Amino acid sequence: MINFKSLIAEKIAKEVELDKNEIEGYIEVPPNEDMGDYAFPCFKLAKTLRKAPPAIAEELKGKLSVDGNIDKIEIAGGYLNFYVNKEVLTKTVLEEISEKKEKYGADNSGEGKTVIVEYSSPNIAKPFHIGHLRTTIIGAALYKIYKFMGYNTVGINHLGDYGTQFGKLIEGYKRWSSEYNIDENPIEELMKIYIRINDLCKEDESVLEACRENFRLLEEGDKYCTELWERFRDVSLQEFNRIYDLLGVKFDSLKGEASYADSWGEVVDILEKSGKLTESDGAKIVDLEDVGKGVCMITKSNGSTIYATRDLAAIRYRAKTYDFDKCLYVVAYEQALHFRQIFEVTKYLDIPKKCQKGLEHVQYGMVRLTTGKMSTREGNVVKVEDLLRESIARVKEVIDEKDPDMENKDEEAKKIGIGAVIFNSLCTTIIKDQVFDWNTVLNFTGETGPYIQYIYVRTKSVLEKAGYVPSFDEVKFDKLQDKQSLSVIKNLYKFEEILKNVIDKNEPSILARYLIDLAGSYSNFYNENKIIDEDKDIQNARVYLSYAVGTVLKTGAGLLGLEMPNRM
Ligand code: ARG
Repeated sequence: MINFKSLIAEKIAKEVELDKNEIEGYIEVPPNEDMGDYAFPCFKLAKTLRKAPPAIAEELKGKLSVDGNIDKIEIAGGYLNFYVNKEVLTKTVLEEISEKKEKYGADNSGEGKTVIVEYSSPNIAKPFHIGHLRTTIIGAALYKIYKFMGYNTVGINHLGDYGTQFGKLIEGYKRWSSEYNIDENPIEELMKIYIRINDLCKEDESVLEACRENFRLLEEGDKYCTELWERFRDVSLQEFNRIYDLLGVKFDSLKGEASYADSWGEVVDILEKSGKLTESDGAKIVDLEDVGKGVCMITKSNGSTIYATRDLAAIRYRAKTYDFDKCLYVVAYEQALHFRQIFEVTKYLDIPKKCQKGLEHVQYGMVRLTTGKMSTREGNVVKVEDLLRESIARVKEVIDEKDPDMENKDEEAKKIGIGAVIFNSLCTTIIKDQVFDWNTVLNFTGETGPYIQYIYVRTKSVLEKAGYVPSFDEVKFDKLQDKQSLSVIKNLYKFEEILKNVIDKNEPSILARYLIDLAGSYSNFYNENKIIDEDKDIQNARVYLSYAVGTVLKTGAGLLGLEMPNRM
């Protein structure tokens, strides 16, 4: 595909004897179409050329010539505006889509690089809450996008399966397991046991002592305690897996905090040797006050490790196992300090510089539910599985009412219901807090997943009505030069750059917004143009454009985790 920006940069670079990439970095897309397709801000050269921007613009314009790709160059203030030849643009986009099909948009910028995406990471024997839903969705999207761009991608679920609370849970289980129906409703029942034993610990010091002993035994690998812990882990995973199945999410590695048990000691030893480890009230800490990052605790006064130590052990393991270029942690912004601390501490561990630099906390905001049944349930704990199933059920109701004869109703309702929840999580800048409101999530005409699916289905029905997809050679590009068609073409052209932006910023919402724009531009095109036409050339061109849009919508939405329905 022709890279117009790069061509323009090349032209300019030749005249001013500057690096092409630097020039390319300066080129902007003007805020409105009348100002051309690309703009070069001449003030960027004012220093080097020691001239005023308008004079530079004047001089450059004189030297640059138009060619087959660029129709027109104009001066506007200190800017040079470039107008791309629209038939060439149309051809290059559609040709690329015809060649690459569902791979359109993928460049190989990730080749040879390894990126770890750590996401989901719920805690066993505790509810999978709506925040975990968000990391699962965001992480899965980033995972897919990196993979699409050629990165060697590793998806890790860093399960929270370790901590002193398991000593308590074991004690509670020993005492009362027969009173609870753990098989049927594991997490809820284990939570009840946990709350009960916790209360008892507050009253009776000897119970607390017994819990501590259980945890010690667990750490030592005692058979009874380990088997119980494994059971808690298994039943929790069964619940989590039901959610992952609904969302269509998979991991390459499920490696919980506990699995680093044999290497925490090494972390402590290395830090000890580095001289960075100091003692404070019996605890071992790394003091990061000098860099404004507080104090990072490494071991508690009783010698046991904490969350941070386990994360440090995990980083060492990942660096050794994957030699990663990037390791992304998709975790709520509440944990920002924790990550700033552990990333800082890696400087004192045996972790290659490359890996240290690649550590990044991808922060997302909280989700609040509008009032209703979901938000009041037991102290704000929403059962995520119920929420997903409710979404599917709500869609099913609409289908039953509006399209009762639809084939594979359940399957289609699932694609739409789940797609709606996924898209909702991704359509705003991820660090922003969100309100979950069914009226927004399932609004078929709003900026939602169902809207994108609906427009996709529309492109499909155009192809069905036409009864064929023309071959690329049959497309006459001059038939797609009206405003609406060109707006679609321009959006299609942007796809690859959008994906690169997502990766630059680890911000999948850029892709979500893009899909809304693409779908919207197609909707305008569809409303303004008769697609099935007596003029065969017009029809071919418009049907082909519909095919191209459907292809890109499907790829793009698929990268976010949405499946496309067949009918809507
Ligand atoms: N299990 C933690 C929680 O639910 C999230 C873990 C995040 N990942 C990490 N490497 N610390 O809050």
